Amino acid sequence: MTSILGISAFYHDSAACLVVDGDIVAAAQEERFTRKKHDHNFPINASRYCLSEAGITADELDYVAFYDKPLLKFDRLLETYLDYSPAGFSSFLKAMPLWMREKLWMPDLIRTELAKTEDDDDERSAKKRGKKFKWKLLFGDHHESHAASAFYPSPFEQAAILTVDGVGEWATSSIGIGKGNEITLSKELRFPDSLGLLYSAFTYYTGFKVNSGEYKVMGLAPYGEPKYVSLIKEHIAEIRDDGSLRMNQDYFSYSEGLRMTNGTFDKAFGGPPRKPESKITQREMDLARSIQVITEEVILNMTRYAARETGMKRLCMAGGVALNCVANGRVLRETSFKDIWIQPAAGDAGGALGIALAIWHRYLNQPRTSAEMSGKWEPFSACKNGVPAYADGMKGAYLGPRDSEESIERFLTQRNLPYKKYSRSELPSVVAELIAAEKVVGLHQGRMEFGPRALGTRSIIGDARSPQMQSVMNLKIKYRESFRPFAPSVLREEVSKWFDLETDSPYMLLVADVGAQHRHQMTAAEEALWGIDKLNLKRSEIPAVTHVDYSARIQTVRRDTNPLYWEIIAAFGDMTGVPVIVNTSFNVRGEPIVCTPEDSYRCFMRTEMDYLVLETCVLDKKDQPPFVESKNWRNEFTLD
Ligand SMILES: [Fe+2]
Repeated sequence: MTSILGISAFYHDSAACLVVDGDIVAAAQEERFTRKKHDHNFPINASRYCLSEAGITADELDYVAFYDKPLLKFDRLLETYLDYSPAGFSSFLKAMPLWMREKLWMPDLIRTELAKTEDDDDERSAKKRGKKFKWKLLFGDHHESHAASAFYPSPFEQAAILTVDGVGEWATSSIGIGKGNEITLSKELRFPDSLGLLYSAFTYYTGFKVNSGEYKVMGLAPYGEPKYVSLIKEHIAEIRDDGSLRMNQDYFSYSEGLRMTNGTFDKAFGGPPRKPESKITQREMDLARSIQVITEEVILNMTRYAARETGMKRLCMAGGVALNCVANGRVLRETSFKDIWIQPAAGDAGGALGIALAIWHRYLNQPRTSAEMSGKWEPFSACKNGVPAYADGMKGAYLGPRDSEESIERFLTQRNLPYKKYSRSELPSVVAELIAAEKVVGLHQGRMEFGPRALGTRSIIGDARSPQMQSVMNLKIKYRESFRPFAPSVLREEVSKWFDLETDSPYMLLVADVGAQHRHQMTAAEEALWGIDKLNLKRSEIPAVTHVDYSARIQTVRRDTNPLYWEIIAAFGDMTGVPVIVNTSFNVRGEPIVCTPEDSYRCFMRTEMDYLVLETCVLDKKDQPPFVESKNWRNEFTLD
């Protein structure tokens, strides 16, 4: 038995992943355990969880692998500093202590931290810091880790690979090919030219948080007009046919500072960045639309180039920009790729998974058996009638902790919380009835998802047919901006009947339109509405998940990977004729997605959610004792 622990840490979204004999046994982000969103510290809790899932100790590992090369990253920081001196001196000084203290001493640090997994008591574990583990420590390359996370778990025997993010060591995107257990990256774009950083610059400028508000910019885009596209192309970013781009550094300050854009950028777009939390105006919507248009063009250029260069018909993607599901939808519709597969943990958390698989397949040269190679894979068109055939190695991304029925009942009994227990066979229709009555339900069941999206095991669900559901969920449950759209979960067998999509989208990473037959025709006056005024129009039979441009960020649900969730949606479909529900992550704004029953109960009681499902126990808000907290919980989370 060969056990490999993959680690990503110290930049953004720390995570750990355990691979045993090529099988992904467990993976989780540290933020879920520490309740600190995008926690970048060493993933001690996530590592401890992964080891416990396999029932092994850190001592029994064979390899520990880190997702990038700290020295190369240091090299970039140093060179960037020299290039932009003296402007970059202050940010260099800020970054230095952390680099000197932690990142450059990575091997010692990793050994010390992993010693802690062997003991819950920090005091005692401190004594083990000098401990010599028998495992070998290896370091990967940032984009190779992304590429491995994209290709190895995919169902394909061979495919083109595209990775796109902000920046790793030097690369900001790469193109290559995966065949069997081999990955070859042949082309890369290098810092400071970066599609991820360009998008982040506009995220910053429109008043959202870099590395977390990019989703909001994408959601805001359909309210705006692409007014700034030519300005961006002429002055700010030269877009080339091969997918590369050249960014005019006169407009940016990410190389030398901690801000993304500078005064020249402000001048070009007519003013300073929007202050976070201030009113969103048409200008921000137009900026969002413009950068989204640019991004889609670059992604299409990159993928078309990858198709030409590799001759492949299938594509695998990872890197933070691969979470841009609007662009992904266009890749599927507008390029020669017939199938695309996107790593659900496309950001840096997924690097932990990528490097662990890379050690198994590349370093140890172990063969890879994809679903396609083992004959388990069929194209989507061949398996519409409930026959699951499109299997990948991610187990539906359900790779995190699960709470047993017993532990949940113990939790509820100890806390004296009223609940009703159902049999597993009754549960789907009970939950479906609640949803059909427009109740908002917190659903905590099965293994927690790996990656940024909730996929029906730590989700808040509701009725997609309800015209009020979007604003109720945004304002009373999630306490977030009213413009933000919600995503549908649909039975995979039914997806083509409701959306213009003829493939699986298990990880909510493809956007497609609601089918024309389900849309409502807008009047001329309604069509003429601008910006946020478009929000309250009932655009389809499933208005809660239909964005203002009729698009939807779709999750197709498979019975074999998430049986209870599939059965809830199926029961709802039988009751209402609509096998589509609203699925949003189980958290409030700024909070990491819930992990434990305690987290779920707390979030349930803090919000206006109506019911909470903890495995087969159902809690009615009306029956719960008053929930008193000594401090205002809203101060607990930094707004994202
Ligand atoms: Fe990355």
